[in-house]
Amino acid sequence: MVEPAKISVGRPAAAGDSSARAAGTRPPGATDERSAARAVQQMFDEIAPRYDLLNHVLSMNVDRLWWRRTARTFKHILSRSDSRVLDLCAGTGDMSVALHAVAKKMNGSAAICALDFSHAMLQHGLPKYNAKKIQPVEADALQLPLADNSFDLVVSAFGFRNLANYDAGLSEIFRVLKPGGEVGILDFSEPGGLTGKLYGFYFRRVLPRIGALISGLRSAYEYLPASVQKFPAPELMLARMEALGFKEASWTPYTLGIAGLYRARKP
Ligand SMILES: C[S@@+](CC[C@H](N)C(=O)[O-])C[C@H]1O[C@@H](n2cnc3c(N)ncnc32)[C@H](O)[C@@H]1O
Repeated sequence: MVEPAKISVGRPAAAGDSSARAAGTRPPGATDERSAARAVQQMFDEIAPRYDLLNHVLSMNVDRLWWRRTARTFKHILSRSDSRVLDLCAGTGDMSVALHAVAKKMNGSAAICALDFSHAMLQHGLPKYNAKKIQPVEADALQLPLADNSFDLVVSAFGFRNLANYDAGLSEIFRVLKPGGEVGILDFSEPGGLTGKLYGFYFRRVLPRIGALISGLRSAYEYLPASVQKFPAPELMLARMEALGFKEASWTPYTLGIAGLYRARKP
């Protein structure tokens, strides 16, 4: 499959940029960070029992390829025996499982910690966490109960976009990474051109209907495209990462830019 090229950071975010103003996600009805976080947590608690099923149905299993590709990107860290890895906004654990699989394949023995603030999401992931000896932690990504400079790798798949304050989330990731540590943020994006039009139709019109049908929660699947729309475009996200101290920030589109991986390093 032909992929659009990887992009690197170009210019700092200007004060007037629309996404410089987008502090973080705001589900309908949320007026500030606290109410946004509460709404997100409640939404994931509610969809947790159907989350895995819906993920695979709605993405037609492409999500598995994205998790694996992201994990493989960090095989140089996962192959080590002493690596400490944090899966941020881990939910039911599929990103953690993909990281574990790569570590195992490379004969590494990374210690993986899966953090999420939705009790129900972690609870539904427990069979996966227990089987792979992954440590689940119930906590807020914006106030990590973790020591400074303690992780070699922080990965977040489809979770970062849901934070009520993106800069605060990046700052916490930066704080807990060791010098030389790396971050990988996998999330949806909005492709342009014909792909964008077709995908936009599926994402905004079809997906919320199927999501509502299976989960009984229409609002959660209307929130998904809305949250992607509010998320900063790649150049702006990269500029935010560099402004907060990360180096070598880049974004690699996956599947024609429907999703993509942000990478950067703590100097
Ligand atoms: C779309 S799910 C992604 C789960 C998993 N990473 C995956 O790829 O399937 C987003 C997750 O982010 C979690 N989340 C959102 N905001 C959070 C926060 N502030 N702290 C911790 N977890 C958060 C939600 O509870 C939810 O489990």
